[in-house]
Amino acid sequence: MSGRKNPLSAAQAPAADTFKILAEESPNVIFINKMGSVVYANKKAVDLMGYSREEFYAPDFDFMSLVAPEFHARTRRNLKMHMRGREVPPFEYAIMTKDGRKIEAIIATKLVAYEGGAAILGVVTDVSRLKRAEAQLRRSEERWRSLLEQSVSHITIVGPDERIEFMNRRPSGRDVREAVGRPICEFMAPESHPALRAAIRRAFMGREPSTLELIAEVKGRRWWFQTHVGPICDGDSVHSVVLSSVDITDAKKAEDGLRQAQKLASLGRLSAGLAHEINNPLSALSGEVQMVLERARDPKLAASLRFMGRVSSRIENIVKGLLEFSRQDPAADRQPVRIHDVLERTLKLVERRMRLAGIRVVQRYGRPMPLLHANRGQLEQVFMNVILNSRDAMPGGGVLTVSTRKAPGGFVEVAVSDTGAGIAREHLDHVFEPFFSTKDPGRGTGLGLPISHGIVSRHGGTIRISSEAGRGARVFVRLPVAHGGNGKGNGKG
Ligand SMILES: Nc1ncnc2c1ncn2[C@@H]1O[C@H](COP(=O)(O)OP(=O)(O)OP(=O)(O)O)[C@@H](O)[C@H]1O
Ligand SMILES: [Mg+2]
Repeated sequence: MSGRKNPLSAAQAPAADTFKILAEESPNVIFINKMGSVVYANKKAVDLMGYSREEFYAPDFDFMSLVAPEFHARTRRNLKMHMRGREVPPFEYAIMTKDGRKIEAIIATKLVAYEGGAAILGVVTDVSRLKRAEAQLRRSEERWRSLLEQSVSHITIVGPDERIEFMNRRPSGRDVREAVGRPICEFMAPESHPALRAAIRRAFMGREPSTLELIAEVKGRRWWFQTHVGPICDGDSVHSVVLSSVDITDAKKAEDGLRQAQKLASLGRLSAGLAHEINNPLSALSGEVQMVLERARDPKLAASLRFMGRVSSRIENIVKGLLEFSRQDPAADRQPVRIHDVLERTLKLVERRMRLAGIRVVQRYGRPMPLLHANRGQLEQVFMNVILNSRDAMPGGGVLTVSTRKAPGGFVEVAVSDTGAGIAREHLDHVFEPFFSTKDPGRGTGLGLPISHGIVSRHGGTIRISSEAGRGARVFVRLPVAHGGNGKGNGKG
């Protein structure tokens, strides 16, 4: 090697003095390795590696002891490449200090002419602090990430344009990837937009964080959230806003159910009192009308009295409905009842009316169905009310589907669905209230559903409607199975 001609021109050799002055000042380790021996090591090399220059320059000093064992092979390969005149790109490795510490570093090497021969100039940068900081940052990021992912809260970060920048969970029914970048209001019910926008604006202006109730809405489904909105600051400026939300849908629904039940109970008491008060004077009145009618000679007077009679019997019917709604007798005339018998009889009674209205009736019965312990007549009344409501909702014809199934918890569920006009959201909360009707006066009294609700509740069951305007309605009636009636002796359903 030394016999060959130096491939580098003298001009490329560093001017020895200048090089050494610079090298001594360098914050990097700089060394020159000639034929496997260290012929120069700078001050930083001495400081960092712990060897004195005498030790570095000793003829038997093993250059490889400066390299961590796992990088020996790579280092040898690189040296060979240099000797063949090839460039070697900088690479990450680890150096070993005299006292056995391993330090992560990046080394850049170059073939140079040094004191009349080819040598390798190495510049080593200690990157261990950088690596530690990187690892720490990664750990801290991972900690935050798992904290966010495991949080029961829904955490959403939005930018100044109200678009979602981050979300720790899937918004129900959609993918996080779909949500990021979209305006947050796209996931909210319209009535929640103003309050949410105001809270976001407040947070961006660095004002007090706020807590509000929001309704999320995706594809027609709604969820209630208790949401805290606060700023994420970077020094003095707010760069995003964080929303931390807890799902309160179940509590909200339970609360609504309770409120509804309480409302209906107090309405029941009111109606019972009212009906009793009206009943006596009303029957006295119709009795009088009847008596006068029998004696009336004048046909005009008689016609007028007959009209009064019809009006009072309509009032009697309403009062009867009110009494029915508010009835308290828990277990009148109950016997084992097959739900399919009840439905068959009811459908038979309305068969003609349905045909005339152009309504096709579809029956989907689950079999076998357990027996109920119920008042057959009252159940027929419930399904009559529900089915007639469906008929009224489909003046242009449609499909009425009656299906049955066993429901969890020892219930039988009957679902009556139609393809009619449906119920507007603002009406849905009121359909079980007495006298709530959207029908023309004289067509609907608004007592059908309240009476049905009363009957079903007294049987220990539930009745519920799900509907959207223009999308038909589904009524679900759940009734408890008779004790010991579970699928026995009623295989035909
Ligand atoms: N299947 C349905 N489709 C659309 N709207 C319905 C349906 N069932 C009930 N409703 C709505 O609920 C209201 C209340 O029903 P409810 O049966 O209590 O009273 P009504 O039918 O109006 O009068 P009544 O039953 O006393 O003759 C109806 O007026 C209607 O607006
Ligand atoms: Mg009705």
